[in-house]
Amino acid sequence: MSEQAKTVRIGLAGLGTVGGGVFQNLIQNKELLHGRLGITLDVTAIAVRNPDRDRGFPVDRQLFVNDWKDLVADPEIDIIIELIGGTTEAKDLVLAALRSGKSVVTGNKALLAEHGAEIFKVVEETGQAIHYEAAVAGGIPIIKTLLESLVGNHIVSAYGIINGTCNYILTRMATADLSYGEALKEAMDKGYAEADPTLDINGMDAAHKAVIIASLAYGSWLPSDSMHVEGIEAVELIDMQFASKLGYSIKLLSVIKGHDDGSIEVRTQPSLIPLDHILASVHGVFNAIAVHGDIVGETLFYGSGAGQNPTSSSVISDLADAAMAIAGSKPRSSFVPHGIYGKPVAIEDTTSRYYLRLEAEARPGVLAQIAGLLADHQIGIISVLQPDEGQGQDPQTAQLILTLHEARYGDAVAARDAIAQLSCILDKPALFRIETLDPQ
Ligand SMILES: NC(=O)c1ccc[n+]([C@@H]2O[C@H](COP(=O)([O-])OP(=O)(O)OC[C@H]3O[C@@H](n4cnc5c(N)ncnc54)[C@H](OP(=O)(O)O)[C@@H]3O)[C@@H](O)[C@H]2O)c1
Repeated sequence: MSEQAKTVRIGLAGLGTVGGGVFQNLIQNKELLHGRLGITLDVTAIAVRNPDRDRGFPVDRQLFVNDWKDLVADPEIDIIIELIGGTTEAKDLVLAALRSGKSVVTGNKALLAEHGAEIFKVVEETGQAIHYEAAVAGGIPIIKTLLESLVGNHIVSAYGIINGTCNYILTRMATADLSYGEALKEAMDKGYAEADPTLDINGMDAAHKAVIIASLAYGSWLPSDSMHVEGIEAVELIDMQFASKLGYSIKLLSVIKGHDDGSIEVRTQPSLIPLDHILASVHGVFNAIAVHGDIVGETLFYGSGAGQNPTSSSVISDLADAAMAIAGSKPRSSFVPHGIYGKPVAIEDTTSRYYLRLEAEARPGVLAQIAGLLADHQIGIISVLQPDEGQGQDPQTAQLILTLHEARYGDAVAARDAIAQLSCILDKPALFRIETLDPQ
């Protein structure tokens, strides 16, 4: 680490889906990361198989080294990010990096599930750190949650939908009546399944993640052959249809439970879960993990379980922790001002769609007056509903339910108040926001 500038030097092994995301995101959010950490995260060397391959984004060719061993041998490098995948060379790389006094960040679930005990022994011997948030459920921060946020809890159980490919296939079978083969083909065509989807559909990918969760929850690194795994190949459309009639959805569910006698149950199988359980509404490629702690009770973690940016987000979180430890920084305080954002938006200037309920005289021309006032405030109408007259309702009055296009809140309130003044309006109008809950 460079002392003056607090720059932490990073060797990146792998510049594929995840490595490419990490490389680009570190550049994209460099200012934000520096503002929050007070450290510059600098990728100083990259190892790949083929440096000549077009990456689709600019990379200074000088960064490429011949071999991952060059990253390990470079005394200037503080942290190695292992994103080459597999369990052979990746294991050699991780062990060599730890032994050479470097911190390691990895997203390699297979490596940890199969060789976790050996790797953590070397972590202990060397006093170095290994971070692996990206190894379980891509962008969902479940590792840190188990290690930090739930530190005071015995984990009673964790139920996970932790393979996006399987969840996509099962969702399409359930919602579009596709056969297993049709849904698998669709997942491959859309890029949600690998060219060779074996490790996903036979349950092994989810099982690897389950081993990591179980090991963290119960404090001993479990051998990966100690768990039961079944894939989704045997699930047929008819099973989906009958499950639904019975009030269930079929999901590839990983179950992790600690029993009172100290034994641990870890299994991954297609399972029927009640339609009214929140996990039944985890659709498509999304992942979710419901963790029950003896103190906290039920918690749920949901999000993108794979993909370039979600996984990169977890890798960068680990990188930040490793860099802070190396830089000898104090633990991140509970509030870090960085000055990139700041000015609050006035409520009048916020925008959304709206729901407007009116009680009006039931006579021609009323709707035209209302529409006119809305137009005066640059607000368009999406739909108008007039619920059936209820028994005992005055036939001279009409309830109107309008949904309105996106507009400034200030304009919507002004339009509501102007409408309230019309002589045909019989009661105070009710205006509520419709939030589409889009991320942007
Ligand atoms: N993809 C995801 O959504 C996701 C999510 C969570 C975790 N992960 C994990 O993240 C890791 C990487 O996955 P990925 O999808 O990014 O894989 P990927 O797209 O196949 O990329 C692998 C990268 O590693 C390089 N590489 C492979 N063997 C190497 C070697 N021996 N020496 C140097 N470089 C080598 C490749 O070089 P070339 O580019 O030259 O071929 C490529 O850049 C895996 O452990 C995976 O399980 C992935």
